[in-house]
Amino acid sequence: MEPMIIVGTRPEIVKMAPVAKELEKRGIRYFLLHTGQHYSEFMSQSFFEDLGLRAPDLNLQIGSGTHAQQTAKALVGIEEAILNETPDVVLVQGDTNAVLSATLAAVKVGVPVGHVEAGLRSHDRRMPEEYNRRLTDHASDFLFAPTEVAAEILERENVWGKVVVTGNTVIDALEERLPIAREQSNIMHEMDLEDFALLTLHRAENVDDRTTLEGLVNGLAELEVDIIFPAHPRTVSRLKQFQLMERVKQSSIRIIQPVGYLDFLVLLDSCRFVLTDSGGIQEEVTAPSLNKKVFVLRNSTERPEAIESGHSTLVGTDPMGFPDAIRHELRKGVDEERKSPYGSGDAAERIINTLLAEIA
Ligand code: UD1
Ligand code: UDP
Repeated sequence: MEPMIIVGTRPEIVKMAPVAKELEKRGIRYFLLHTGQHYSEFMSQSFFEDLGLRAPDLNLQIGSGTHAQQTAKALVGIEEAILNETPDVVLVQGDTNAVLSATLAAVKVGVPVGHVEAGLRSHDRRMPEEYNRRLTDHASDFLFAPTEVAAEILERENVWGKVVVTGNTVIDALEERLPIAREQSNIMHEMDLEDFALLTLHRAENVDDRTTLEGLVNGLAELEVDIIFPAHPRTVSRLKQFQLMERVKQSSIRIIQPVGYLDFLVLLDSCRFVLTDSGGIQEEVTAPSLNKKVFVLRNSTERPEAIESGHSTLVGTDPMGFPDAIRHELRKGVDEERKSPYGSGDAAERIINTLLAEIA
């Protein structure tokens, strides 16, 4: 079996690294294709280094653009790569534009697709990711569901492919890299940090809408805590466009460039709690070695398992509501006895075992 692994953005690099390494461990060759959707050093290259992943065999350099531009450029480039490399299976992860492009390219030339992190649903039609994940699930041959909840969704939707519950590879990556991060990262010292909350924001439906973004900034600035905010480039450009950057800088929110994976793990490890609209971070906080509390600044989530386990609370985006919802939860105190719903770090092993049994 010789797979082609597709990545396009930073979370895909994080979550596919364990799959690539599991293949390497077993001496299985693979082709690594980066669509180049993320290209800045701090959104792409640094993740390969921090995850100990080799450089991609091919980078399509599709860059930024509209959804159609990104999807179409990647579709053409991936089809060409599949025809040249003739992989036995194409592996995609999550719900980005790269995932949809690779899935369409592969199935139409008759190559099976394995979807890592299948079966997530936010039911929010404003999210571009919701279309990518639904369409991909219905075209995939192998659906690697992180949890039983996700597997049940897929069974209910009568997907064509084989559904296997594996856990989430984000836990594999985190459990492997956290000890290295604790040893190598100097970020706490460099930034002179002690007691803080960690914030990330980048969902299009949050940051591309002026009213929502302004409400988020105002509500967050009201919290009685120092906030460290490694801001995604999409968010930085919107804060500038909507003239909100000054307000952020005058508040208790300390805005910095996105940090590398190892530094980010140390920030996660050291913060009092997390505020985010990220998908991956809702899962990372549940890792056995972290076990943190996250407040999700969204109206819905495709990760209800983390709410169920007590790691996550959905607080919405309304500045009249979410600051009090956070204070209320913090006053209640955080229950230390929680178990990750996303597995214990062996998701990649389960994925490769399945593929070897089905394909090789
Ligand atoms: C994409 C994914 C989203 C994922 C996120 C991870 C889709 C539809 N969206 O959103 O699901 O959660 O990645 O971070 O696939 N930019 C840079 N440097 C880069 C990349 C982007 O400056 O390396 C800036 C550009 O101005 C660009 C903007 O960020 O227009 C948005 O980038 P894009 O890749 O279109 O979407 P993300 O918001 O990153
Ligand atoms: N991350 C990072 N540095 C940052 C912000 C995030 O290393 O400054 C990592 C984080 O640990 C997680 C991934 O990026 O593994 C999440 O990416 P993002 O939130 O952009 O995407 P999503 O998961 O929402 O698709």
